[in-house]
Amino acid sequence: MSTTVIILAAGKGTRMRSQLPKVLQPLAGKPLLGHVIQTAKQLQAQRIITIFGHGGSTVQETFKQEKIEWVEQAEQLGTGHAVQMTLPVLPHDGFSLILYGDVPLVTSETLEKLLEASQNTGIGMITLNVVNTTGYGRIVRKNQKVQAIVEHKDASEEQRQITEINTGIYCVENRKLHEWLPKLSNANSQGEYYLTDIVAMAVADGLEIASIQPALDFEVEGINDRIQLASLERAFQQQQAFNLMRNGVAFADPARFDLRGSVTTGQDVYIDINVILEGHCEIGSNVEIGAGCILKDARIASNTKIQPYSVIDHAIVGEKVIIGPFARLRPGTELADEVHIGNFVEVKNSRLEKGVKANHFTYLGDSEVGATSNIGAGTITCNYDGVNKHKTIIGESAFIGSNSSLVAPLSIGKGATIGAGSVITRDVPENTLAFERSQQIEKANYQRPQKTK
Ligand code: UD1
Ligand code: MG
Repeated sequence: MSTTVIILAAGKGTRMRSQLPKVLQPLAGKPLLGHVIQTAKQLQAQRIITIFGHGGSTVQETFKQEKIEWVEQAEQLGTGHAVQMTLPVLPHDGFSLILYGDVPLVTSETLEKLLEASQNTGIGMITLNVVNTTGYGRIVRKNQKVQAIVEHKDASEEQRQITEINTGIYCVENRKLHEWLPKLSNANSQGEYYLTDIVAMAVADGLEIASIQPALDFEVEGINDRIQLASLERAFQQQQAFNLMRNGVAFADPARFDLRGSVTTGQDVYIDINVILEGHCEIGSNVEIGAGCILKDARIASNTKIQPYSVIDHAIVGEKVIIGPFARLRPGTELADEVHIGNFVEVKNSRLEKGVKANHFTYLGDSEVGATSNIGAGTITCNYDGVNKHKTIIGESAFIGSNSSLVAPLSIGKGATIGAGSVITRDVPENTLAFERSQQIEKANYQRPQKTK
């Protein structure tokens, strides 16, 4: 059976008070509409049709990699009008799931359930019982069967007491959409073409309306302003943290954690407060992540400790490594097992072999460092000549004295020693001491200048 996903995303989102179209506002690091598209893909929908209006080109540009069809709704005359726009391209067979670009968190499991429930009836919807019903369409039932949806503004006092509301998410047979949508009228208090009116049409045709509820309420929550966006973000983050805890992750405080992407974790990972994980991270067992760390597309092997306020971006880290506090690993960094990276150390596009130590104030860029070498405090690889980047190769068991500048391209042999404060511009052979330093000048009994009174 073929499934089409129709996503309504034409609204302006005035209440966001933003230059960015509402459906591009990020939740957990991903545009709202991106969440819905991802869910549609999980459902293996044959077609994804997105109805755009406001901010159209920016929205299309954002998703140009995705296999999506775009249909324009130039004027927003109501949810029914929006879906009418798809009729010229909508197939006549199969079902459509109708979703919203600003209702980001509905899950594929809930939608599968809706699809299944709708198979026999030809139409199904997701409803929810809520405490604050203001603004929502109410589900009118007779003998438990759905009769109609009445919009808040059109509802009688009695209908307004109904606590079962319309989430707006439906599953409808496409041949029925072709039949019903052209018949919608805008004779209502808002002068809009209401999609909700297809429910009464289905009942008039003698169909029963299937209805299901979401597993979690926030799945069907829509975003209109930044307050709702922030509160949905927290609800989603809490759920993600709880899922990680079920997989053996310990949090100092699950309320102070953000996952903006995905992560795999081993057992007994400990995450201190205010940690952010982005992109796709892989974290082994017994890894400790200190307060305030940010990891993006990072792979961290087991038994490694990342101390507070370290930033790791596109890096691969081995086992029993110690990083930070205040360390920065930039893209292309590979740390073998048992490496130590200390405070104010920046590593970029470099491979450090087993047991290398760079414990204080250092920049290693475009370099290779052999096993157990010690990089003294303040060592800088001068990898950039103003135009090109060059490599620094350091052999194993080398000792680089503090405050050395290693001017690349440069190769330092294994076992070599560099004296502190050197500017090294020529290759250094194995087991050799090299230093570059002017002579120390001494003036005995020197008097410092005195302040004149
Ligand atoms: C709609 C439902 C209501 C339901 C509520 C759930 C109708 C008539 N009412 O009401 O029963 O309880 O959602 O939140 O459907 N949109 C377009 N083009 C349009 C109009 C809307 O793309 O012409 C999009 C909006 O951007 C938004 C969504 O459709 O994402 C819902 O529109 P909105 O006007 O907010 O619907 P409600 O009045 O809240
Ligand atoms: Mg409206």
